[in-house]
This record gives sequence, structure tokens and C-alpha cells, in this order.
Amino acid sequence: MKKIIIAIDGYSSTGKSTLAKALGEALGYRYISTGDMYRAVALYFLQHGIALTDEEAIRKALSDIELRFYRTPQGNRLHLNGRDVQDDLRRMDVADLVSQVAAIPAVRREMVRQQRLMGQEKSLVMDGRDIGTVVFPEAELKIFLTASPEARARRRYEELKAKGVEVTLDEVRRNIEQRDRIDTTRADSPLRMAEDAVLIDNTHLSPEQQLDCALELARQRIEDC
Ligand code: DC
Repeated sequence: MKKIIIAIDGYSSTGKSTLAKALGEALGYRYISTGDMYRAVALYFLQHGIALTDEEAIRKALSDIELRFYRTPQGNRLHLNGRDVQDDLRRMDVADLVSQVAAIPAVRREMVRQQRLMGQEKSLVMDGRDIGTVVFPEAELKIFLTASPEARARRRYEELKAKGVEVTLDEVRRNIEQRDRIDTTRADSPLRMAEDAVLIDNTHLSPEQQLDCALELARQRIEDC
């Protein structure tokens, strides 16, 4: 059977990672949430006090950072220099910094290089902001996810609360608005929908309905190729 690359892009908190994981499991494909990679870099910058204006420190940090995804029955766990940091990636201090870190061209260059290596064998579902436009412009299937800002804020708020994170709905909403603004207006690879992407608005879709829709698209593309 033909192997393909599936690119899922879209705004913050639209459920891209949830869909990537479900699609990957249904198709027997690997799935990678590239937002976690940018979050791990932001975490490293926080831990090491790296200033976003210090080009030399950023260059050194990027050569010191090793990122590896490990598959577990509960999903992927990202290790940063040998330490499992998956549970730290949703922290609010990381969320507040990550869009600025992801706007730095040197950071993007290195993440995109690593992401393309992961796609060499295809059979991959990758989610992020620039997967269909920059990382894999030749991806056989591109999905662009969107949902109303209110639905997105509420979902992320519920997710954080379930993890015991102390946060208000208003803080989550402001963080999402701020990230949308930075992600769509940055000079390097701003978030935009690829011309050949399929738009899915999941404001009123259950995760199962969304998965059915995406699986149908994936199976069509696998047959067409
Ligand atoms: O998907 P996420 O919310 O975990 O992403 C975290 C941040 O990383 C988000 O603000 C934008 C950035 N990002 C990016 O610029 N490019 C990607 N491919 C993935 C994420």
C-alpha cells in the first residue's frame, strides 16, 4: 500500500495533536506534534536563561539541544537531552514564551531540518503551523484545522485544569489570542493555509466525527497515489 505524508496545520488549541495521534494510530503511521519541539526549545531557553536577542547563545543552545520522541502506550513522550519533559511542555511560562521562540529564524531552520528527516520514510502524520506550506509542501494530504476562539479557549482550559494547572479561562484566552497574533504575523513561515489544504472547522464536531472525516480523506489519498 502506498505510504503518504499527512500534514495537519491550524490555529492553537484546535486539537491538531489529538487528531494527528488518532489518525496515526488508525493508519499505523508515526505521528509528531512539532509544537512540542518548539515548546521544548522554549523550555530549554527558560531553564538556561537564554535571551531571545542573544544570537550567539541561541546558536550554541541549538547545537546543544537533542530532541527525541519515544512512543508509549499513552502517546509520544518528548525527551530533551535525555530527560522526559513531556509534562512540562504545557506549562504557562512555556506557553507564554513559545511563539516568540518559534519566530526566530535560526530555531525554525533547525526544527524544519529535523522534521524533514522524520519524513524520509513517509507513513507520517505531522502537525504544526507550517507543515503543509514549508516542511512538506509535497505532502499528499494537507488538513487545516480551525474552530471558534471560544471553543478553543475552553478546550485548552479544561485540558489544563484536568492536569491540575492553576489557570483562569481568561488567561488561557489571552494566551491563545497572543499566540494567534504572533503565529500569523511573524516574518518567517507565518501560519497560513496551504492552497491545496482541506479546511475542517471542528467547532461543532466531536473528536470521532473529525477523525472519520480525516480518515476518509486519508484513505482516498492513499488509493489515489
Ligand atoms: O501546537 P502548539 O500550540 O503546541 O505550538 C506551540 C507554538 O509553537 C505555537 O505558538 C506556534 C509554534 N509552532 C510553530 O511556529 N510551528 C510549528 N510547526 C509548530 C508550532
